[in-house]
Amino acid sequence: MRVLIIGSGGREHALAWAISASPLLTKLYVAPGNPGTAALAENIAIPASNIAKLVEFAKDQKIDLVIPGPEAPLVAGIADACAAAGIACCGPTAAAAQLEGSKAFCKEIADAANIPTAAWAEFTDEDAAHDYVDEQGAPIVIKADGLAAGKGVVVATTEDEAHEAISAIMGDKIHGEAGAKIVIEECLFGEEISVFALCDGLDALYLGVAADHKRVGENDTGPNTGGMGAISPPPWGSQPVLDATMERIIRPALAAMVARDTPFRGFLFAGLMVTEEGPKLIEFNVRFGDPECETLLPLLRSDLLPALLAATDGSLKHVDLRWKDAASATVVMCAKGYPGAYATGSEIFGLAEADELPGVTVFQAGTMAEQGGILANGGRVLAVNAIGATLHEAISRAYAAVDVIDWPDGFCRRDIGKRALI
Ligand code: AMP
Ligand code: GLY
Repeated sequence: MRVLIIGSGGREHALAWAISASPLLTKLYVAPGNPGTAALAENIAIPASNIAKLVEFAKDQKIDLVIPGPEAPLVAGIADACAAAGIACCGPTAAAAQLEGSKAFCKEIADAANIPTAAWAEFTDEDAAHDYVDEQGAPIVIKADGLAAGKGVVVATTEDEAHEAISAIMGDKIHGEAGAKIVIEECLFGEEISVFALCDGLDALYLGVAADHKRVGENDTGPNTGGMGAISPPPWGSQPVLDATMERIIRPALAAMVARDTPFRGFLFAGLMVTEEGPKLIEFNVRFGDPECETLLPLLRSDLLPALLAATDGSLKHVDLRWKDAASATVVMCAKGYPGAYATGSEIFGLAEADELPGVTVFQAGTMAEQGGILANGGRVLAVNAIGATLHEAISRAYAAVDVIDWPDGFCRRDIGKRALI
């Protein structure tokens, strides 16, 4: 099989790493990829945003399966463009990708499918939004409807904060058109988990559970990021919680999408709050998580490629994935300054040494290769994963690898998984 992965982060390196082990693979391309994927596949210099060029390349190269990593090309219709060209694509159509592209659409599906989620209301009128906050009180959650690079959500602990968020999103338009509509919802309390499933429209295959660490600072302080590290399995994602997630959240969502004539295919990522009443949906994403992908794929024993293909042709019910009886931890190493401004171009040493440590795989994200060396070229630069017999072992192995990596201009959180060990 000839496969094209789209994207350039740690998630895409992990997908390339898993797929390159498949005996079914004959040729692997990554567009645009990074130096990590270049070691496993042929990188093609087409950006993830250029759908026309990507599909033209896939046609010319007789690609059998396209695997988009990030949400942007999905929301922009890469699966539709692949379908029109007769190429299988493991991802949702633009219409189905609205599950992530619009928070209001996600909530409509949740209500249609009777999925447990926070009470909500949507607003296009700023005054009405302010009035609603006055009625409901705080804490309360304000969300820009559209894609806002993970920065569109404000969990307001006071009414003043909520009013400020509404003014910033709707009045000052800090997220542009993504904030023309907002969703205001009830604040949920509990522990967060992310549950992943591979979907073929009708069926969902469980892909694992992880806990992300979204804030940049230790003890969950500072601004939100794309994710500073992840562990699997988090102790608060118990089997009954996972069963309830599949039965009451993921499968009903798939049925509701079929009922709307927009069946969902590809990776479905449910962000959940484990409350006293069980798991409640915070949001759906229409892709694998990053760094959750780098955390879960090292636990997979089976060949990933036939499962991804089955997601595109409706035969997922015949697929059975086997997993290692192990735990996994990923520590993300970032350029100093991230998620604010940061410098690029500093050299990173010790990657190969770290990668040789027991249980460790170093995935590259924002890197570039120059004269045989690897330089930082982004905010999140490396995703250092380790698996182990226990979470404790996985976490210590990941930090042992971090300590072998010599990169004075980088930093990481030192407390990934700490709360899970208490
Ligand atoms: P999202 O971008 O929707 O993932 O939201 C970002 C973060 O905001 C989530 O990971 C939660 O920590 C928090 N959040 C979102 N919605 C709620 C809610 N209804 N109650 C409490 N926290 C929330
Ligand atoms: N790590 C969270 C995400 O991929 O959205």
